[in-house]
Amino acid sequence: MPRGGLTRPEGIDPVIDVSGMVDPDGGLVDRRIFSDPTVYSQEMRRIFARSWLFIAHEDQFKKPGDFFQTYMGEDPVIACMNKKKEIRVLLNNCRHRGARVCRADMGQTKNFSCTYHGWTFDLDGKLINVPAQESYASDFNPADWGLVTAPRVESYKGLIFANWDAGAEPLEDALGDMKWYIDAFMDRDPEGTCVVGGVTKWVLDGNWKLAAEQFATDWYHVNMSHASALMVLSPTGKGPKKEIAQRTGRQYNDDHGNGAGFPVHPRNRFDAQPVHEYYDYEFLRERLSPEQVMGPLTNGHATIFPNFSYLPVNGSIRVWHPKGPNKMEVWSWTVLDKGMPEDVRHAQRLYNLRTFGPSGIFEQDDGENWSECQANAHAFMVGNTALNYQMGLGTEKHEEGFPGTTSELYSDAAGRAVYRRWRELMSTPAWHENKE
Ligand code: FES
Ligand SMILES: [Fe+2]
Repeated sequence: MPRGGLTRPEGIDPVIDVSGMVDPDGGLVDRRIFSDPTVYSQEMRRIFARSWLFIAHEDQFKKPGDFFQTYMGEDPVIACMNKKKEIRVLLNNCRHRGARVCRADMGQTKNFSCTYHGWTFDLDGKLINVPAQESYASDFNPADWGLVTAPRVESYKGLIFANWDAGAEPLEDALGDMKWYIDAFMDRDPEGTCVVGGVTKWVLDGNWKLAAEQFATDWYHVNMSHASALMVLSPTGKGPKKEIAQRTGRQYNDDHGNGAGFPVHPRNRFDAQPVHEYYDYEFLRERLSPEQVMGPLTNGHATIFPNFSYLPVNGSIRVWHPKGPNKMEVWSWTVLDKGMPEDVRHAQRLYNLRTFGPSGIFEQDDGENWSECQANAHAFMVGNTALNYQMGLGTEKHEEGFPGTTSELYSDAAGRAVYRRWRELMSTPAWHENKE
């Protein structure tokens, strides 16, 4: 990042050795990683400044000038379509005094004009207008003062990700075998997917990792935490049938910290009846594979490390934006297949809101759990007591039909993989630390 003639003193960004704070092989996690401000600021530098981070869905950009404001870690960014119809991701931070140059959540524009002194930037982040430029010295060059731009922006099946690390491995390599599981959600329709209903946003008291790891690894909580929701949804009103309460399935994990879990059942189905009736399962078995239709097509949960998660049966994609060690902001979209008729779209959108909107019958249970786990994480004795991630230790395997490493449905294997990746990145200098 250009810093001109400034020199930042050693020690202003302290680096601590966190390697002893998680033990992925033994399944132990130090509670302080959820509450310590030094750990948190190191996460911003060593995880968020060099991982592929979800930005938006391609459907949000149709013509040049379409833009969407979001965050990479805590850094505000603008994603916009430039005149060549490429997606640019710009740091939303004026190079003059640091005001945001865009304050709207989303919209259409020709350029981004800072409301403080009027510096104006084009859709590629180039500085194109400086009021009273003649008052600067003759060697002032606007070309030196464009918005900082994410050097890498790549998409997979409609999902746009960006990375501050110019030398990062390609997005598809970072997704690896996880692509097969994503395809079961995002590649059912040859025409692809779209997003509807805008972005729903809410704030939770809880560290971002609590949500990210749960979506990677935790089917275990479903019967207990969501008992009342399952009762409401059961046809008899007395609770789910035995085969729903005691499901078997698989959990995927990989060395990038991605994880997914899902029941496997030959008669898998979508919960919203119009959606279930819409799908031609035979067509899906041919387009995808029988294993994808039996497993990750419908019910399930997943996280792309670090903070992007999704739920196929609900059509929900979401980001857990970190807001300090004790807070996260959830941003949630509803994804639909482009070919769905209006009544099916309507049913799926409402189903997502009812279950996993901010007041959804499942979402409220999850948020309550994370806030509960966060509430005392900073306390001394609590902070000195290790957490248990030992479920399914040693069950990791390679299995015909399910790519990558899998484990059982009820397992912490993907959680251990999240923290293995977390420890690896937190312990390795990032691209911005390697300056001469
Ligand atoms: S802060 Fe943007 S023009 Fe001055
Ligand atoms: Fe849940």
